Amino acid sequence: VIGEVGSVEEANLTELELAALESDINVADGHARHEPTPSQQRIIDRLPELFEQAASTPASELDREAQAAFLTSLGQASALRDAQALTCYSSSVAMEVFARALDAAGLRRVALIHPTFDNIADILRGCGLSLSAIQEDALADGRADVLDDAEVLFVTTPNNPTGTVLRQERLTFWGEVCAERGMIIALDTSFRGFDPRAQYDHYSVLVEAGVRYVVIEDTGKLWPTLDLKAGFLIFSDDIGLPLRRIYTDILLGVSPLILQLIKDLAEDASAGGLEELYRFVSGNRAILRNELTRAGMRRFPDADSRISVERVLVPPPGTATDLLHELRADGIHVLPCRQFHWADPTEGERFVRVALGRPPADIGKAAAAIAGRLRGRAP
Ligand SMILES: Cc1ncc(COP(=O)(O)O)c(C=O)c1O
Repeated sequence: VIGEVGSVEEANLTELELAALESDINVADGHARHEPTPSQQRIIDRLPELFEQAASTPASELDREAQAAFLTSLGQASALRDAQALTCYSSSVAMEVFARALDAAGLRRVALIHPTFDNIADILRGCGLSLSAIQEDALADGRADVLDDAEVLFVTTPNNPTGTVLRQERLTFWGEVCAERGMIIALDTSFRGFDPRAQYDHYSVLVEAGVRYVVIEDTGKLWPTLDLKAGFLIFSDDIGLPLRRIYTDILLGVSPLILQLIKDLAEDASAGGLEELYRFVSGNRAILRNELTRAGMRRFPDADSRISVERVLVPPPGTATDLLHELRADGIHVLPCRQFHWADPTEGERFVRVALGRPPADIGKAAAAIAGRLRGRAP
């Protein structure tokens, strides 16, 4: 039995991820569950010292330092100059604050990228907002007519699960379209740390476009920190939403110990940690793709993706839900993609998603099981 409703089709992704936590090989959730690098391990080994440092530094100072270290490591230096930032327990909490603030301000029509991680649609809808789907292709092509009467454009970049990045010229385009229409542009950049193509300075582009913006940055997907993480809710001065008020309805701030850890890990990322991460994820992606290629798979739906998850095509007439059940019998947990396709779930039955933030040996076992199930069924 999965989640409250009991079926794979009706469960949300987090319910499926929870079920996978108990499994032999869990390649379901997108959290980092691999060995820390030697330099990350040295930071973890200093935890008691970090605790003392955090206890003796004013929280607001540490908050600013953690934000600065993280944003600078990912190329977002202008955020510190041009925007305001609120540190949240996680990116979902930042999302909840944003959605409630939209509702409070009477902005209820959101054009949301499709597909994307289901909790974004769930949180927006849960706060009473109405959604229209905007396909990734339409975003890449710059077809502004797809916005209809939306008041907010929400884009996940790089997108989960596809890894698609909104390139600089397209962000400029959409920023200008939103500015012209008096819309807010909102970005979820949780996966940007995996892809240098998503690390151009987004804030300078948004300021240049003259648009009101909200960006949700996230430390939570990058490092194997047992879910010690934060989400940053970053917004333009002229946003016109009660973000601070709703934030303080929910929290005072994030633990200084977590902020200290983020600061140190971000500095490590700047000093070569990011390159190590790129190599690690691309190594795991190669293990999976090589195994699938040997089984006769010739198409990878997201050939250019760099993020820490990978979609695998399920050849018809099979479905993702069928494959998920077969793999469970092998002790392997993946995610079906129907929930990512929040406006058209059956479309997502063509893919499963495999998490790559795992020890390579686990990726090897998952890859062998998936290849075994798909052998001879290649499109
Ligand atoms: C794009 C994206 N945004 C937000 C979240 C939520 O992150 P958290 O659970 O840390 O709040 C996820 C989770 O996988 C995600 O993929």
